[in-house]
Amino acid sequence: MTLKRIGILTGGGDCSGLNAVIRSVTRSAILQHEARVIGIEQGFDGLLFGWNQELTLDATRDILTLGGTILGTTNKGNPFSYREYDEKGGIRERDYSQTAVDNFKRLGLDCLFVVGGDGTLQMAYKLFAMGLPVIGIPKTIDNDLEGTDYTFGFQTAVQVASDALDRLQTTGKSHQRVMILEVMGRSAGWIALESGIAGGAHIILIPEIPYDPDKVLENIRRRESEGNPYSVVVVAEGAKETGGREIVLESATENLQGVVHYGGVGNYLAGKISREIDLEVRCTVLGHTQRGGTPNCFDRVLGTRLGAYAVQAAKEGRFGNMVALKTPEISLVPLQSLAGIVRKIPPTSQLIKYAESIGVNLGR
Ligand code: F6P
Repeated sequence: MTLKRIGILTGGGDCSGLNAVIRSVTRSAILQHEARVIGIEQGFDGLLFGWNQELTLDATRDILTLGGTILGTTNKGNPFSYREYDEKGGIRERDYSQTAVDNFKRLGLDCLFVVGGDGTLQMAYKLFAMGLPVIGIPKTIDNDLEGTDYTFGFQTAVQVASDALDRLQTTGKSHQRVMILEVMGRSAGWIALESGIAGGAHIILIPEIPYDPDKVLENIRRRESEGNPYSVVVVAEGAKETGGREIVLESATENLQGVVHYGGVGNYLAGKISREIDLEVRCTVLGHTQRGGTPNCFDRVLGTRLGAYAVQAAKEGRFGNMVALKTPEISLVPLQSLAGIVRKIPPTSQLIKYAESIGVNLGR
């Protein structure tokens, strides 16, 4: 099909590599198809409220290494259940999906590239079902999207976390302390596990394996008795204790944003350990440093490959799909097949097996 005018938006939490994708989509659409590229701003909000900008070769020239997204993003703004204040100051949810479809047509677009994680791609699929020619591009630092080997943003986040662990190792050893690093990962512990292995952590706690605090203590004590009175622990924000305890949450707001903030498990664990053990305990929460900043080479290359492939797929009219890394190639996966599936670390994963085989404790 002819690609005269294409749209692209970034939705959900940002990550490193989004601009590499925007640049790749823009350059291949212009250089291969002489198309015009419209960047929709602030996720689907830009489609609802008419916020957009034209993306040119010049506009995307120096953004390959830039963190964040030049289009802006939001993890609110679901066009199917848009949260807004009603006349009485209460919160209501409205379905504005038809407005999104109408505005897409008004912009004269031939297709829409939606760059996002699980939530954003589900919205993309629903818009596809309403007739919009959509192609999804997977992103999330959590690496928990079904259908692709890796999402871009993940490797950069792992690098940030393992750099932090390298630093915690030396200060922890010097002071004979237990150093806890809390990393992101709501339902999947990919960042914790991979950075923990890369950073030589002694204990790694992930959402997929509920941890027993006694086992954690046992491991720290054993290390101490063997002449290593320090330990480095990585904990994913979504990790929870055995015995059905709830995840520790920073805040669960019921304001317009309606977004639950994870975080707090690191300090919770620090308190628990320091009450039981005669070693000092310190906690570092890495937070959004994992999401911002320059993408590493892997994410720049992956973002570029996904963007260029997405344009090719649009040219072939293969809408309703997500571009995905199926090593070593990029291929297409139906958006429908992803619906709501969180790709967790399988309990039988080799990564878990080999981590434990070299003596890493997973809290069990
Ligand atoms: O979904 C990706 C993620 O990085 C989660 O791991 C984390 O809980 C969340 O984003 C934080 O999002 P926010 O930007 O809303 O604090």
